[in-house]
Amino acid sequence: MADQHANISTTVQNDDERSEPLLVVEDFAVRFHTRRGLVRAVDGVSFELHKGKTLGIVGESGCGKTVLSRSIMGLLHDPKVERSGRVLFEGRDVTHLGRRQGRSIRGTEMAMVFQDPMTSLNPVMKVGRQLTEGMKAHLGLTPTQRVESAVRLLRSVGIPSPERRMEQYPFELSGGMRQRVTIAIAMACNPKLLLADEPTTALDVTIQAQILNLLDVEKRDRNMGMILVTHDLGVVAGRTEEIVVMYAGQIVERAPTAELFNAIRHPYTEALLRSIPKLDEPSGTPLAAIGGRPPALHAIPPGCRFAPRCPYAQRRCFEDAPPLTSDASVSAAHTFACWYPVGVEIRPTGGPAVEPAVGPSAGTSARPTVEAVAR
Ligand SMILES: Nc1ncnc2c1ncn2[C@@H]1O[C@H](COP(=O)(O)OP(=O)(O)O)[C@@H](O)[C@H]1O
Ligand code: SF4
Ligand SMILES: [Mg+2]
Repeated sequence: MADQHANISTTVQNDDERSEPLLVVEDFAVRFHTRRGLVRAVDGVSFELHKGKTLGIVGESGCGKTVLSRSIMGLLHDPKVERSGRVLFEGRDVTHLGRRQGRSIRGTEMAMVFQDPMTSLNPVMKVGRQLTEGMKAHLGLTPTQRVESAVRLLRSVGIPSPERRMEQYPFELSGGMRQRVTIAIAMACNPKLLLADEPTTALDVTIQAQILNLLDVEKRDRNMGMILVTHDLGVVAGRTEEIVVMYAGQIVERAPTAELFNAIRHPYTEALLRSIPKLDEPSGTPLAAIGGRPPALHAIPPGCRFAPRCPYAQRRCFEDAPPLTSDASVSAAHTFACWYPVGVEIRPTGGPAVEPAVGPSAGTSARPTVEAVAR
């Protein structure tokens, strides 16, 4: 299955198409040896990202987003982890960098913002010291310059009275302020790539847009490449140039953002879209939850991994895994892995229809637009 996905890369294009991508992920796989068996957390994922662009990676919980993100950042050092494929950062192969070599890139050229700021902040160290530590290790500024720079950074991420905040501990700050501090720390060494893994999932809904806007501003001001990882298609709808949809460790659909919302092809993407609250619906409208659960990644059944939950599944879906392909008449940049894509007139022939796991009406009612779901 990984092979079928191997040669199709996703590309967030730079205006200058000749420029080298900031990040290239090639047929990348991460497997964990566990007592239950081999867990295929990431299975043959390929994409590219150019500087100044944002790529959204979307999928339900457990589909491999965090394992992928942490592996790109070189943060998985477990001997029970097996990797294949390649990660190239500015043309350098960083797939197998050890802890020490990795440290010179992580936190400087590549930075990460996590879901829960409390897990990345040191609870017993003052905010100011946490900010200046990274600068000390990587930038060689004088102590006074580091403090000045830290205060500037805190101010730039919207923290009022930054001099006072420098002297506080993380527990003295609100969740939103803590996430602003982690963003300031991530920015301290002027990274070229920012990987934000569910950066607003733990935050109050009123704070979420502020933090997402802040990430946007930082990305633009610094011309960084950004990967925004989320379970919520609404989060990436208005904030990315391209979206990759992951299911059970694989890419099932990817497209330039506007194109994806205009012509969703994969039933899983369609189901994800229907599972998010729409701004144009009255509050209290029930969400269309996706029935069933993703397959266990240590016992992946043959065929399409989404088949047991797919309203369009036919016999073939349970037998053959669909490769990533594009509908060349529409766009080569839009790829999807489905035998019976949404909106394409190749409804099944031959063989009786399999009982749908979700009502087929899910595929026929009006589809929300990018404007209606963007946060
Ligand atoms: N250290 C580990 N050992 C075994 N399995 C793991 C480990 N870390 C993650 N996994 C499994 O990898 C899969 C992907 O997890 P994750 O990347 O955290 O998903 P997501 O971020 O999309 O919610 C899950 O099935 C998870 O249980
Ligand atoms: S139609 Fe078949 S191949 Fe396509 S997502 Fe559904 S189960 Fe998978
Ligand atoms: Mg995760």
